[in-house]
Amino acid sequence: MANQEDQFKKLVSHCKEYGFIYQSSEIYDGLSAVYDYGPYGAQLKNNIKEYWWKSMVQMHDNIVGIDAAIFMHPKTWKASGHVDAFNDPLVDNKDSKKRYRADVLIENYLDKIEAKINKEVEKAAARFGESFDAAMFKATNPRVLENQEKYDAIAKRLANAMTNSDMAELKQIIEDLEITCEVSGTRNWTDVRQFNLMFSTQLGNIAGEDDKLYLRPETAQGIFVNFLNVQKTTRQKIPFGIAQIGKAFRNEIVARQFIFRMREFEQMEMQFFVRPGEEMKWYEYWKAARLRWHLALGTPAEHLRFHDHDNVAHYANAAADIQFEFPFGFKELEGIHSRTNFDLSQHMELSGKKLQYFDPEMNESYIPYVVETSIGCDRMFLALMSRALTDETVPDADGKDSTRTVLRIHPALAPVKCALLPLVRNNEELTQLASSVYHKLKASFYCQYDEKDAIGRRYRRQDAIGTPYCVTVDFETMDDGCVTIRDRDSLQQERVPIDKIADIISAKTDMKTLLV
Ligand code: GAP
Repeated sequence: MANQEDQFKKLVSHCKEYGFIYQSSEIYDGLSAVYDYGPYGAQLKNNIKEYWWKSMVQMHDNIVGIDAAIFMHPKTWKASGHVDAFNDPLVDNKDSKKRYRADVLIENYLDKIEAKINKEVEKAAARFGESFDAAMFKATNPRVLENQEKYDAIAKRLANAMTNSDMAELKQIIEDLEITCEVSGTRNWTDVRQFNLMFSTQLGNIAGEDDKLYLRPETAQGIFVNFLNVQKTTRQKIPFGIAQIGKAFRNEIVARQFIFRMREFEQMEMQFFVRPGEEMKWYEYWKAARLRWHLALGTPAEHLRFHDHDNVAHYANAAADIQFEFPFGFKELEGIHSRTNFDLSQHMELSGKKLQYFDPEMNESYIPYVVETSIGCDRMFLALMSRALTDETVPDADGKDSTRTVLRIHPALAPVKCALLPLVRNNEELTQLASSVYHKLKASFYCQYDEKDAIGRRYRRQDAIGTPYCVTVDFETMDDGCVTIRDRDSLQQERVPIDKIADIISAKTDMKTLLV
């Protein structure tokens, strides 16, 4: 655990040191759970968004994209249920004054039980070696069974309390489990109460509840209210989808774990409109499709898993998360929700506008059902970084062992694709040649030119920001017109003609490699 905490701290400081992520307004001591992306962070984030957009919109004839405004008519949020039901249960410790989400306190307790089970399994696996059958062990070991029973009972109570918005029961669970505050160590809790997560502001100079504007807590509603506009203008037939990438805002009670839970973040959402009754088929389809999207990046399958929701949100009839194994355990990365026709029906009722679709094949009109895929761009960023950042021992230029920090990000997503490095900087002919190659290459992909410090240090700098290819221009280049391309991961070096560099690197870094 300590090791994972260290690993996470290293990731946060790496993000700052190499210009990926800074605390917002840092010179004023920062703003809690709000972050700014630096030069490499912004580039990487754009690449994540491009990969998502291309795989959803460009690769599907029946998905189109929009970019709706953040502000929406106040009735939107009444209709969607967010004004009444977008709450988190909040509890304060009276001694430390520290505020917690009651459900998260209980989930953390569950994580500890899960860790105990995993430890038993690991110990047994080490003891029995190759013949070990984990499933059989879990089904028969008395200590594991006892913990699993305890886990299931608490998870069920939590799910029921959340579904029924039963704040007294949540408090009771915290008391029954004797959960203490991590700061004061006491069990002196206030009652649990609901806390609405939406940020609000006022339109112009008009004051009053009716004119309260909300910063959108999800991008999805911009899609729902535009459903008919888009369907009519693009003449899409059901089933079809609308995709959008944009900022969302939530006044999170517990905003921790770096960019995992932020107050301002970015979502990549797609609503897929289907015939009523066909939603479960499409729900399964999108679960599988979205998992493939993650696996294509080379994320090992064992770091990803589905987690079906026990208590679904107010708008859904089925929901699953794709969880990723972050340094602090398996947590939600993406949600796939079967949202029924809840949102369109609600908007129809409050707006008085008919949000129906005439299905020519069925010769009838209906309110479509919706399957949604929703992933946080920042959370995806964190998932990628936490898997990619690696310390390893490699031979240095003299063949001796040295450690390097390398960001093994997929080449198609890497912020910088290629670095142009003259072997030395005090030779004008060499630097001019390297710089002219750089200026030609930068039209093809994002390149950097670096002539400062010894070549080994320059390689390390590029490794640390995940540059997949370093191109070295040396004295022989001036005679044979060839350069050395070094591969970030294998450290293999290949000698290639200058006029082939663009093709070679494009073939390996093009987003196409992920899409076909
Ligand atoms: N439209 C459905 C929706 O918003 P959600 O499960 O609340 O569903 C979807 O959010 C995704 O948005 C999550 O899986 C997560 O990746 C991201 N997300 C949610 N809250 C976040 C936060 N406070 N900070 C960063 N990402 C967040």
